[in-house]
Amino acid sequence: MAFATRSFVRAASSSAAAAAATAAAKKLVIKHVTVIGGGLMGAGIAQVAAASGHTVVLVDQSDEILKKSTKGIEESLKRVTKKKFADKPEAGAEFIEKTLKNLTTNTDAAAVVHSTDLVIEAIVENMEVKNELFKTLDKFAPDHTIFASNTSSLQITNLANSTTRQDRFGGLHFFNPVPMMKLVEVIKTPMTSQKTFESLMDFSKAVGKSPVSCKDTPGFIVNRLLVPYMMEAVRLFERGDASKEDIDVAMKLGAGYPMGPFELLDYVGLDTSKYIIDGWHSLEPNNPLFAPSPLLNKLVAEKKLGKKTGEGFYKYK
Ligand code: NAI
Repeated sequence: MAFATRSFVRAASSSAAAAAATAAAKKLVIKHVTVIGGGLMGAGIAQVAAASGHTVVLVDQSDEILKKSTKGIEESLKRVTKKKFADKPEAGAEFIEKTLKNLTTNTDAAAVVHSTDLVIEAIVENMEVKNELFKTLDKFAPDHTIFASNTSSLQITNLANSTTRQDRFGGLHFFNPVPMMKLVEVIKTPMTSQKTFESLMDFSKAVGKSPVSCKDTPGFIVNRLLVPYMMEAVRLFERGDASKEDIDVAMKLGAGYPMGPFELLDYVGLDTSKYIIDGWHSLEPNNPLFAPSPLLNKLVAEKKLGKKTGEGFYKYK
């Protein structure tokens, strides 16, 4: 696997302080953002970027999808405003109006990136489709434009290599639901420049999030810890060492987690979890943390995908 830890470390020069000062002086301040993919994540990212004063174009494949995304954003803004401006309904209405003024939609990504500072991709989790998109946009976006992917499980380095701007390419991994979750993982590949990295950190702060940085390693920080933990719970259950109910109770009462691992798996979706673990297993077949689970595979084959299908490890009405 090409997660080039050593070359990354080598790249950190001894004159890091001087380099950081120069980079900070020149780094791009992001004002105009293009978000590609108006689904669950893209709509949330567009919302927080527009709400924090950025000019945002949200792109998806059809006007119908974009109408749904905009409606979702409007509803989410109303919920946010109710809390944030509880005593000041006029200020709340002004906030919504201003945010929506910052947001436009389009179905043609290539046509809108000519004036953008940052492209955030949040389309389907498929390497070929993402690579094709980035390759196309690379031709139309200006030189200064930074590209970022919101992928949860694909290698950012691989995506960056579909463009000619590897130094202006990084990961911006937001969490669901975006308006509520405070974390963004900012991913720096061995090729991401310090200037780009700092612009992405600044942008994350500007949209009201707390960024953390991580190298381009499978799962970054959160999923790297969370997915093997959930898989280990499945293996414990598969071996008959404990019931799924007891494992869930144990982790809630003993570790203080808000959900047990099986409740979390059902919430995330068993297909999504299988997709992630299968991808990591193919990258590192000998890593026992990434070993597939026969039980998880069986449930996915039976279309028991969790809450969204009414049944996963548990049944839902
Ligand atoms: P989603 O399925 O809700 O939305 C994807 C959207 O992209 C759809 O509206 C689809 O029409 C659009 N799309 C697909 N191909 C396109 C193209 N070529 N051009 C323009 N639009 C296109 O997916 P979701 O959940 O929002 O995930 C998007 C990305 O975010 C994925 O890479 C996923 O791994 C990542 N992610 C997802 C999280 C989650 O909890 N769902 C959490 C963090 C990251």
